[in-house]
Amino acid sequence: MEHSGHNVAADVTDYKEWSKSFDKRVEVLKSDKRRFVKFEDRKDESILTLENNKGISKGKYHTTWRGIELVKSSEDLIILQHLLWDLKPATIFEIGAYAGGSALWLSDIMKMYGYKTHVYSLDIDLSLVRDLAKKDENISFIEGDASNIESAFPEHLLKAYPHPWLLLEDEHHHMNITLDYFDKFFVSGDYVCVEDATLHCATVCGMGLLEDMGYETWGDAKLTAMKEFISKHPDRYMVDTYYNDFYGYNASCNWNGYWKRV
Ligand SMILES: C[S@@+](CC[C@H](N)C(=O)[O-])C[C@H]1O[C@@H](n2cnc3c(N)ncnc32)[C@H](O)[C@@H]1O
Repeated sequence: MEHSGHNVAADVTDYKEWSKSFDKRVEVLKSDKRRFVKFEDRKDESILTLENNKGISKGKYHTTWRGIELVKSSEDLIILQHLLWDLKPATIFEIGAYAGGSALWLSDIMKMYGYKTHVYSLDIDLSLVRDLAKKDENISFIEGDASNIESAFPEHLLKAYPHPWLLLEDEHHHMNITLDYFDKFFVSGDYVCVEDATLHCATVCGMGLLEDMGYETWGDAKLTAMKEFISKHPDRYMVDTYYNDFYGYNASCNWNGYWKRV
């Protein structure tokens, strides 16, 4: 059929065919024998360069959910959105609540998916958590110090929380105290997301956005801590490359940070 306007696009996709093969294509990726990889077999590198990350940081440090700051990159939000749908966690732990935007996003997504999930979000200082997040009945904000994680999450309570679990480690300083403690309670099939495990993460939020702030990265601090933890718990955690490499090798802020407890 002749169209009077300009032929502006060269898209000749047969969307009916493309759609028909969608489930199969996803299944091929999910059933790939090389999907689950030992942490030590992964490289500390990403297809995203430091320059790419400066741009991504600009978005990450301006991201909000329902008007509340949520400090995650666009890649990680989409990766997590898929992980949440696939895993359907009954319990989510977030270490590092900040403004509560992330806990609210996690809770809202699970509600929209139609699942009953409770989010426990820990921070040493909850004064920045916004009222909208505090009002959510599926979120419990806990004020406590991750260096004393067993006080924040006593054993008798943890044992009662339903699995599968998703733990998001976003506090950074005491990561291995947190992971060593939760390791005792994880069961096969639970997931961990170690956030900001990248050579590119800015030491101060906002770096790279303002000329005078510069852009200083924290280098391999978090990746080194991850190696220490993994070496103490060999063969317990596998990097799930379906999520980790969703957009290409470590194209996320969470390099080699999406783990399945096997
Ligand atoms: C990167 S922010 C968390 C961002 C949030 N998860 C998000 O995605 O929007 C890190 C948080 O860790 C908290 N924090 C720092 N030291 C802590 C500690 N020892 N125990 C608990 N929380 C701590 C800080 O107060 C800060 O709010």
